[in-house]
Parts: sequence; structure tokens; C-alpha cells
Amino acid sequence: MSDSNKALESLLEEKRLFPPPEDFKKAALATADLYEKGKESEAFWADMASELHWFKPWDEVLEWKLPFAKWFINGKINASYNCIDRFISSPTRDKVAIMWEGEPGDERTLTYLDLYREVNKLANALKHLGIKRGDRVTIYMPMIPEIVVAMLACTRIGAPHSVVFGGFSAEALRGRINDAGAKALITADGGYRRGKVIPLKQAADEILKDTPTIESVVVVRRVGDALKTTMKEGRDYWYHDAVNAAEEYCEPEQMDAEDMLFLLYSSGTTGKPKGVVHTTGGYLTGVYATFKYIFDYKPGDIFWCTADIGWITGHSYIVYGPLLNGATQVMYEGAPDYPDRGRWWRIVEKYSVSILYSTPTSIRSFMKWGTKWLEERNLSSLRLLGTVGEPINPEAWVWYYKYVGNEKCPIVDTWWQTETGQIMITPLPGVTVCKPGSATHPFPGTEVEVVDEQGNPVKPGGSGYLVITKPWPAMLRTLYKDEKRYRETYWSKFPGKYLTSDGAKLDEDGYFWILGRVDDIIKVAGHRLSTMEIESALVDHHAVAEAAVIGISHEIKGEAVAAFVILKEGFKGTPEMQQELKMHARKKIGPIAEPETIIFVSEVPKTRSGKIMRRLLRDIATGRALGDISTLSEPGVIAELKKRYESEERE
Ligand code: PRX
Repeated sequence: MSDSNKALESLLEEKRLFPPPEDFKKAALATADLYEKGKESEAFWADMASELHWFKPWDEVLEWKLPFAKWFINGKINASYNCIDRFISSPTRDKVAIMWEGEPGDERTLTYLDLYREVNKLANALKHLGIKRGDRVTIYMPMIPEIVVAMLACTRIGAPHSVVFGGFSAEALRGRINDAGAKALITADGGYRRGKVIPLKQAADEILKDTPTIESVVVVRRVGDALKTTMKEGRDYWYHDAVNAAEEYCEPEQMDAEDMLFLLYSSGTTGKPKGVVHTTGGYLTGVYATFKYIFDYKPGDIFWCTADIGWITGHSYIVYGPLLNGATQVMYEGAPDYPDRGRWWRIVEKYSVSILYSTPTSIRSFMKWGTKWLEERNLSSLRLLGTVGEPINPEAWVWYYKYVGNEKCPIVDTWWQTETGQIMITPLPGVTVCKPGSATHPFPGTEVEVVDEQGNPVKPGGSGYLVITKPWPAMLRTLYKDEKRYRETYWSKFPGKYLTSDGAKLDEDGYFWILGRVDDIIKVAGHRLSTMEIESALVDHHAVAEAAVIGISHEIKGEAVAAFVILKEGFKGTPEMQQELKMHARKKIGPIAEPETIIFVSEVPKTRSGKIMRRLLRDIATGRALGDISTLSEPGVIAELKKRYESEERE
């Protein structure tokens, strides 16, 4: 169990109850009978799916050959058709889909019709570049409207996209391009973050010589003269040139419900990220329905999800969920504290945001920065708040409720994963009585349990492993080109049950409390990182012999990276070396992987079989009494480590 999070202690003591406000309850889309309907899960999901457009209806709702699920067998569907074409012959065509704000303050508004036009043209442009149904396209972009257009254009021609978070390094991009065997890359010259220009095309250029499958690169001009962008003749094309030259209409491909919609790489317990495969019909159904009922989206609402599209949250609840519902949303390119800490609240006021979906890390930052930034703004448009990505400590929940929501907005604490594709455990606003820190109950049509080491459900009050016991439509179908890892990671510990790798507690009232990861994955500011991935990055440095990485409790970020490093003979553990290694981790993975602390040691504790004992490292880092060390090969290592860590802390 990820025991680095001190907040968990207060979480498990939490007793306060927050019933939904009466007026919210009266008008809410989700009513309690949704849980009743969800009991017949196949009929429930089929109902949800029938609200989408299908070229050909399915023959059968679900085929479940453990661990492989197929949803909406033989149904034919297209994602971009459902997100845009469906609205083109209705008044929604002129409705705003995206109100975008760049970090420097530039603005753009795209209606559904604007999106339709741009997506059709880009889809044709991609076809001209030789991209065909089934080809993978990697997208490496900042948070600009073109990223949405790029994703939808791919889906229109049946080319699965693989979005790589723009904050990842060039090397991380290379690994993901090569694993996917992507034929094209869509990127931008750069983007803005905290007033700085972040080069993306230049970064991609560093690795494009090592990506043999890439035939063409499409580049959006975002920052223009702020960067020198070189274009390689015959390979690189400006987005605007490609789009301007393209025909206006592109017939959407009729995709099978089980055709791959996208790939998204996510950290696993080994160093190599996993290509999580999502398919079309089930995924669209799952995110459509969860967006509708969990965010209670009604015409006139302005939704804002503050995530980056490079993560699953952005895929499901910026791109597909909102657009499938014909929603209007805000999209913002930059940092919450640029040019000052009031930026988000100015956005809420300016665009009259009514539904805000954010993270515990941001809420904790705002708590620290003080309420002044909120008080300066009129936030009365807000009516519903959401959170995702890591456990929320009750203090942060209550602060969010009180200062952001003015004690009138329900909070949906939504638990899910890259692999689940859709929200799985969440309150239904207007129905659920919330307990701060608890994600409450499984969404209708899904089934979740907490089980003990033997796989038996725990009694109320007990804790154990969080598992999912029934297939759900947006579930991952496999790991790209790695079926073995798919079976082993998710389906081998408890036969027939999907292992989430989260620990959870089920309380006496049947509420679920997520306690954090039980594997070697850490969540830094809600971003998922594998300790092994960071270790590999550090060991790749010429001075490093060995490294052991753990997550340590961090007041704002929830967890931060701490690395215990053994240097090779002849290298010194100086502050300069610490800095160099931090930079190295950034270069290999990205800024989010930069260790907060690096401790130079001569040994790391290992079991006799050679496994790093992370639990012990965590105990040292958190100053806790040491647990069982009987399996340790060199017990003396601990004393040294403890000494080094403590002196490091004092400095
Ligand atoms: O540990 C859980 C945590 O985030 C993990 C999934 O990370 P990722 O695939 O990056 O997806 C994040 C966005 C969906 C989970 O295994 N997590 C996510 N949401 C919550 C959470 N932990 C507690 N409460 C949540 N609401």
C-alpha cells in the first residue's frame, strides 16, 4: 500500500456527511433509479450506446472471454462522426464547442461547425500524406485547439492516435513512437508554459532520425518567430498549408466497434511504458454516459477540465466525453499561476464556468496560496466540482467545497485509470451523500470490490485490493503488442477479477475509500510515474551504478520522487552531481520525473533475491520505525542509509 501519504490517516478518520443540495437534486439528470437500471448492466450499457450514432447496430452487446471483452459486436461507428457530424444538422452546429485561451492571453472560439470543417480538412490532408485506416499517428502537442482537431481527424479516417504528453521529453517521445510504429507525427513548433516557449518540433527533430516508421510530420505554427523551426523537405509539412490545400469533406470510415480508437502509453511497474489499447464503440459509450450523468451536463453549462489532453483525463473528459454530449467547454493552454495565482479564477469568471473538473494537487496549491485569489473573482457560475488523479485529503475536499463551491456545489471525487477509460467510482451529483475523501460508489453498470489476499471480498470496515469484477465498455482491451503483459498485470493475481493495483477500504456504509497504489507506481501531482522508469533513467547516466526510487509524501503534490543513488568509482556525490542527475531524469522522461531529493549512498537495501526493498527506503524517508528486515541481505545498509537521509534532510 502506498504508505507515503500522510493524508490517508486523516482520510480514514473522516465522518462528515454532505448531502446533495436540494435544488441540485431536483434538476439532476441522474436519479437514484440509475443504480437500479445499472444492475442489468448489458441492457444499461446498450441503452447508453443507443444514444450515439451507429452506421450499423450491434448484434450482441457483450462477448466476454476472460480476459478479453468485446462490446457491441459487429456494430459500426465513427468517433468523429459522433463528436461533430451528429450535431451539424441541428442547431448545435452553431453552438460553441471550445472556448480556448492561450497562456499569453490569446483567445479562440470554435463552434461545432468550425470543428467539423477543420477536422474534415485535416483528415483529407492526412490521407494525402498516405495515412490509411489502421496506421498509427503520434500526436505531441501543447493544449491548443488543433490537438482536438488532430485526434478527431485521425478517428475520422480510422487511424488510431497515440498522444504523447507535451511535457514528456524527446526520448520519451521516441520510445512511444517506435513502440506504436507510428507512420506520422503531428506536433507544433512549440507551446507556452509559465511565460516560456517550450519547443516541441525542435525536440522531435532530435529523435526523428531514430524513428524509422515516421514518414511525415505535420507541424502547427503556434509560437511562430519565437522559435527557429526547421522543416525537412519531403517529410515536414506546416499544418496550415496541409489543411488549406485539402478538400472540404472527408467521408468518415465505418469502424468496427472493436477497432482500436487510440493507444495511450502509461507507466507500469517495469521501466517500459505500456501501450493501453482502447477501442471504439465501448469507449465512446463509456465516456459519453459518464460525462452526461456524473457532470450533469445540460445545455447552457460551461464545462472546464483542467487536465492536459496528453493524459487519459483529457482524452475522456476534454475530447470525447464533452463533444459526444454536444457540450461547450473551456480549454486553457498554460499554468495555473501564470501570470499570477489568480489565473484559473479569472477564467472561471470570464467564461462563466459552471462545472469544474480538477485535481487534488491544484486544490492543495490554491489552499496554500490563500483565498484572496478567489475572493477577487465572481465564481457564482459554478454549480458542480470534480476531482481526479489521486486521493483527495478531506481538508482539501472541504476547502474546495467551501471556498470554490461556496457550499452549494456537489463534489464528484472520481476514481478511474488510464486502463478503465471511463470514470468507475464516483458520487452521482444530486443523489449521493458525499463523505470528503471517499470516491463513494461504483458508477451504475459497473461492479467493484475490495478483496483480501485470497481474493475474497472484505466485510464492511475492511481493506484490501480494489478489483473490478465485471467487464465495462471503456475497459482497455489489451496492451499494445503485449498480450502476455496484459494478462499478467491485470488478470493473474485474482482469476476473473481485474486488478486495479490500488488499495482501498470499504466502510461500514459501503463507501469506497481509495488508499493509493499497491505497486511501484507513484503519483506525482497526480501524474503517473513508475519508480523503475526513473531508476532506468538515472542508471543511464554515466556516473550512476545503481538507483532506487521511491515516492515520498509531499504537501502539495501528494507524492514526490526521492532517489537513492550509488555512484560509480571515481565520482563524487556533490550538489553539482545532484543537479546533473535531476537534469538527466528530466531529459530522459520529462520535468515531472525530476527527483525532489537525491541521496548518495554506497548500498541500497535488497532482499536476498536481489529485489530493492522500497518499503524500507520509504520507512527511512518518512522517519518511521523500521518494519521487518529479516529478509535483508546486508542489514548494516539501513543504518548508513538512515544517517545519510537524515543529514540530507537537515541541509
Ligand atoms: O491510484 C489511482 C489514482 O490514479 C491511478 C490511475 O492513474 P492514471 O492511469 O494516470 O489515471 C489518472 C486519471 C484517471 C489510480 O490507480 N487515482 C485516480 N483517481 C483517483 C485516484 N486515487 C484516488 N482517488 C481518485 N479519485
